[in-house]
Amino acid sequence: MRADWRRLLQQADGLVSAYSNRVSNAANLCALLYQELPDVSWAGFYFLHGNTLLVGPFQGPPACVSIDLGQGVCGQAAMTGKPIRVGDVEAFDGHIVCDAEARSEVVVPLFKEGDLVGVLDVDSRRLNRFSQEDQSGLEALAKIYLASID
Ligand code: SME
Repeated sequence: MRADWRRLLQQADGLVSAYSNRVSNAANLCALLYQELPDVSWAGFYFLHGNTLLVGPFQGPPACVSIDLGQGVCGQAAMTGKPIRVGDVEAFDGHIVCDAEARSEVVVPLFKEGDLVGVLDVDSRRLNRFSQEDQSGLEALAKIYLASID
């Protein structure tokens, strides 16, 4: 893993390891991602409530509040249980536009002991902003988050 991601994951661990509140830890982790990753326009969490994802802590412009399971990149990642990396959101069938300027996106589903908790979503206004390495880094950060919460 690249040094910048190793450092970012160490910072993430330092921010959340002593705390277990899911909102507090999500808030600090999206602030970290938004501050440290270049060209990121939005970084945040959606949490599952019934069959719907509702926006949680985030950094960036105001976002869609509610996303049904199966809808958009977030809802599809949540439903399939697999991360989705989109190089060009305009080419992704069903992409939900929250920010008309967004061009690429990664969504990592969050499962705690087999139960869907929500998703981590990171957007950029640059096409193909996220590499496989970025996706792996976000998956590792999601693991740190999930291990920290109650
Ligand atoms: N584009 C996402 C919606 C969430 S926002 O990007 C913050 C989607 O298609 O699920």
